[in-house]
Order: sequence, then C-alpha cells, then structure tokens
Amino acid sequence: MKQLAVNGGIPVRTEPFPEWPIRDEHERKAVQNVLKSGKWGYPKWEYVPRFEHHFAVYHDAKFGICFNSGTSALMGALWAAGVQAGDEVILPAYTFIATAGAVILLGALPVFADIESTTFHLDARSVDEHITPRTTAVIAVHIGGRAADMSRLRSVCEFRRLALIEDAAQAWGAEWQSKRVGALGDAGIFSFQSSKNITSGEGGIVITDDEKLAQYCRSFCNCGRLEDKPQYKHYYIGGNYRLSELQAAILSAQFEKYPNQLRIRQKNAAYLNAELAKIQGIVPINVDENVTSNAYHLFLIRYKKDYFNGVSKNRIIHALQAEGIPAHPGYTLPVYKQPVFVERLFGARGKQDIAHPDYGNLHLSETENACSDEGIWLTQNILLGAENDMQDIVEAFKKIKNNIHELSEAKNAAPG
Ligand SMILES: Cc1ncc(COP(=O)(O)O)c(C=O)c1O
Repeated sequence: MKQLAVNGGIPVRTEPFPEWPIRDEHERKAVQNVLKSGKWGYPKWEYVPRFEHHFAVYHDAKFGICFNSGTSALMGALWAAGVQAGDEVILPAYTFIATAGAVILLGALPVFADIESTTFHLDARSVDEHITPRTTAVIAVHIGGRAADMSRLRSVCEFRRLALIEDAAQAWGAEWQSKRVGALGDAGIFSFQSSKNITSGEGGIVITDDEKLAQYCRSFCNCGRLEDKPQYKHYYIGGNYRLSELQAAILSAQFEKYPNQLRIRQKNAAYLNAELAKIQGIVPINVDENVTSNAYHLFLIRYKKDYFNGVSKNRIIHALQAEGIPAHPGYTLPVYKQPVFVERLFGARGKQDIAHPDYGNLHLSETENACSDEGIWLTQNILLGAENDMQDIVEAFKKIKNNIHELSEAKNAAPG
C-alpha cells in the first residue's frame, strides 16, 4: 500500500495553519475612531504622521514617509535618491516584479545581477561586475525577511558612489549586525500589502536618515508639494501616493501585535532550521551571525533533488501539499524571464524607445537554480503555528524522503 498522501495514503495533517491577517478589537476600534472623526486622509491626519514616527523609530531611522504601496514607496525612494530616466539600476531577479517595475516606471533601466547560492540574496561581487558609467543605484532586496549582506553591498556602493536602496518589503524587524534594516543604505521601503507581516490591505513606507531625501520623498508622494507651502503650488513632479487614515489606523493596531508575532516566528523557525537540516537534501537558508534578527516573512528552503532520487521541486511541493503542508514554489521565473521583460513591452501599446538590454537572452545561473530547482517557501502565517504544527512540517518532509521511491516511480507516469 502506498504511504504518501499524494498517492492515497493518510496525510500527516488535515487541520489548517493560522489564517492571516490576525485581527481583533484593536483594529476595529482604531477604524471606528477614524470613521467617527471624519478625518479620513490628508491634510486632516493624525494616524499617518504618528505611525510614520513610530515606524521610523522602530527601524532605527530618523524619517518615515507613508505611501499607498511598497511599489510607489520604491519609486519615491529611487526618485528621491536621484535616479532619472535612462539611468541603470542594479537589482536581483529573485524578487517580486515590483522591484524592477518601479525602476521601469521611472524610465530607468533594471540591470539584473546574480544572487548568492546559499542565501538567495544579491551577490555584491555580481553587482560590481554589472556597474557601468550609467549606473546610479543598487537595490538590495531582503528576501523572505532576512537581511542581505549590507556590509559588502554598502562598501561596493560607497566605493562606486552609488545610491543603495533597500527593498525591505518583506523585512519588518529584520537586522543586520544588530541594526534594523531600512536605513542601512540611503533609504529603504516596506510594504503593508495583504500577505505582509503587518498589513493594512495595501500600503508602504520609505524610511531614511537623510533629511533631504525624506523631503523629496514626501513631495513625490504628495503631488510635488512642499510642506508649509501653499496647497496648490507644486515644486516637483509627483503623484498622489498617500496612505489614508483608515489604513494607518489598522497599521497602528497591527504594529502593537508585531513584536510578539516576530518572537513566535523566530522560535518556530529556529526549530525548523535545526530539524530540517537533519534531512539530507533539505537545506535551510544559511544562518549568518550578522543576521541578528530575521523577520521570517518566508521560511526559505533549498531543496536538493539529488538527495531525493532526482524528483523535481514541483513534485515535492505537490506531495507536501497533499500531506497538509501548504508549501509554495515561490518565484518560479527570474524577473527577466517574465513575459514583459522578454518582450520588453514596457509601454501599453508597444515597445518603449529606450534601448533596454536583451533580457530574453540573459542567464544568471544561481537565480535560475533558485527559481526552477531549489527554492521552496513556507509563508509567515505558517510560522505562527504551535510547536506540534512545526513537528508536522518536519514529519511531512521525513515521510516524503522515506518514501521517495513512490514519487520517483511515478516520474515516468506524470509530468514533473
Ligand atoms: C520584495 C518586494 N518588493 C516590492 C513589493 C511591492 O510591494 P506592494 O505590493 O505593496 O506594492 C513586494 C510586495 O508585494 C515585495 O515582496
């Protein structure tokens, strides 16, 4: 009789993992306060400036500017750092499309560098190799909530006089060498979109220690206005990318829950790191003493199929899901392999004029390996489970490994 649930065996578990977002009376009361006050957004706002302040302080930064999404925050941070149309911006391709999309939306050119095989983070050596006289900025993505190697990236950027922007969309509370991410470079952005560790449905923020950069960001976010100037005078190009009071009220309530949730995720992740590492072929992302806090938006796993009879990542994920573990394949395409980049269709009705690199012929081996073969994700809500939930995850991996012949036998019968 077959053992694996994917082949009709009994699954390791059938109960769901914690649902997301977690919300209670605090969110409800905060939203009611705003509704009653009639102050729902700029220029009558209280929650937004208060949240900006609290968030910046929490992340060891001097300034915070809320935006209506992580994408618009990234556009604001890049623009405020001086990125202009035609400039080149270096970034990883193992990221969400928005990291590159923000660059394109400013008329600049994304230049993709490779990632480190052990962390899935931007590789400073590859960044160095991609710098040209047109490069003006580098975007470090703290993928999964674990800080990228900011020491090496910062020294490359300082030496080459490039702006360093952190895409910390997934990295609330993450630290590099005991300092929270976001203002380790020139500026950093966070996202409050639905899946994120703190959410208001949509939203984002830029943080920075640079007062001038903060002023540019605020102006970009607020239709090119300047504070203390007349409402209908516009000094820079910008848009309405503002967050509403209703969103900031929800964020304030979510923020209170965060330190405790972060602790639970970290405790569970430590257990998974220790137990999964005992299974040959399952490699949690490199533990590094410089990463003094990991936000664990994702628990990232490197799957080595050679230890699993060559069974593909997709087939393993399917088997895990059947065992009741909602494992996720993550980004299955590097950003440069997305149709929009292969075809370079950056204008709605055809190609843009700017000569973009031939993304379709680009190959970054570690990035492609992470996408197609190795990267398996467990999302942050899973890490909010109880100890026995984590034991089930380990159990499911072990069960699949012990019965791997059931999947390799089936290899010829179904596409992997
Ligand atoms: C790495 C990364 N960068 C940027 C973004 C964009 O954030 P948003 O969806 O809030 O625009 C996201 C989130 O979805 C992300 O995961």
